[in-house]
Amino acid sequence: MSVEQKVRVGFFAAGSIVIYRHALELSQNPDVELVMVYDPLRERAKSLAEQYGMKVAASEKALLSNKNIDAVIVATPNSEHARLTIAALKAGKHVLCEKPMATTLEDAAAMIAAAKASKKKLMIGHNQCLMAPHLKAKALLKEGVIGEILTFRSSFGHGGPETWSQDNGPHTWFFKKEKAYVGSMGDLGVHKAYLLPWLLGSDFVEAGAFVDTKLKRDENNKLISVDDNAVCILKMANGVTGQLTASWTYGAKEDNVTVIYGSKGQMILGADPNYQVEVMLNNGEVARYKVGAVATNTCQVKSGIPDLFIDCILDDLEPPFDGLKGYKALATVVACMESAASKKICAVQNTPPKIKKA
Ligand SMILES: NC(=O)c1ccc[n+]([C@@H]2O[C@H](COP(=O)([O-])OP(=O)(O)OC[C@H]3O[C@@H](n4cnc5c(N)ncnc54)[C@H](O)[C@@H]3O)[C@@H](O)[C@H]2O)c1
Repeated sequence: MSVEQKVRVGFFAAGSIVIYRHALELSQNPDVELVMVYDPLRERAKSLAEQYGMKVAASEKALLSNKNIDAVIVATPNSEHARLTIAALKAGKHVLCEKPMATTLEDAAAMIAAAKASKKKLMIGHNQCLMAPHLKAKALLKEGVIGEILTFRSSFGHGGPETWSQDNGPHTWFFKKEKAYVGSMGDLGVHKAYLLPWLLGSDFVEAGAFVDTKLKRDENNKLISVDDNAVCILKMANGVTGQLTASWTYGAKEDNVTVIYGSKGQMILGADPNYQVEVMLNNGEVARYKVGAVATNTCQVKSGIPDLFIDCILDDLEPPFDGLKGYKALATVVACMESAASKKICAVQNTPPKIKKA
């Protein structure tokens, strides 16, 4: 695209992540024109459209066939991600799709194949990597401040998505297996399954997990059909092993903390609200960095994801948070689910299956 030209954007969904992040951030980007939104709940689409001067699409097809749209944001329930992403890529649009990128590895592979065939950009909304403490940690790890990485523990838990989703309450799609595929593990665990390989420079290759539903109940007062807690042990290709936990039952206080242990010391991310990166060396030296907060549901910070997507389109660059990395994060979640079901350590299938026809 020429740099003088604005990127014209359409939205699949007018839900919370679009309201709080994508539409808000893109509306402040001078290189973007917000054109159209589709949501089956028309009132939601109308409200967002009025706020940003967009048109409401009468159907998915109306948005897909609109020649004045260059790029779409897919931010629907998880079950719709693959279908809409592939349709948009085939219609010649660039796509920013939310996480988890799909509900099966086959669908995720088909999304990657569709992006390749269309020569359009496919980016997945894995926003953890752009958070200030994680960017600082990556730079410090590259300098080798804590030596050789040995192990880690990473946690992402809050009180649950039913107060965040626009389907506010126990009827939310996040609680339905057919719409979400997985619960806390797909909503929160997948973020850390993406972040840790990016931070530590190695893919997860094996997983063992206990994945349970302990507390959350749906509108019929039945335990929900997806998990609300997951405790996982993971091994990387470089031999590093560690723990990942995801939870929707940390009701009193959100926990979004990662600790990385190396041969020379350890690094704590997101524990101290004032010093979001802390480095403690075995020789007693301590360094604390004030770099900005990790985003939480209740304390939103600019994600930078939509702006990066637009830059990749304008500069014709492969998005750094691409389909393959999104696939591997999903594959880690899938391996954890398989491990919990089989009570065995399971391999992470990091190579997407071949797709016959994109
Ligand atoms: N990156 C992040 O940190 C982050 C944070 C929250 C949510 N998410 C992801 O974003 C996606 C949406 O989550 P949310 O919190 O906005 O949910 P939400 O419940 O607030 O909104 C979902 C919206 O999708 C609409 N929808 C359903 N089917 C649709 C279709 N076929 N076309 C268009 N719209 C459709 C619903 O009517 C609803 O308005 C999920 O995949 C979720 O995992 C990512």
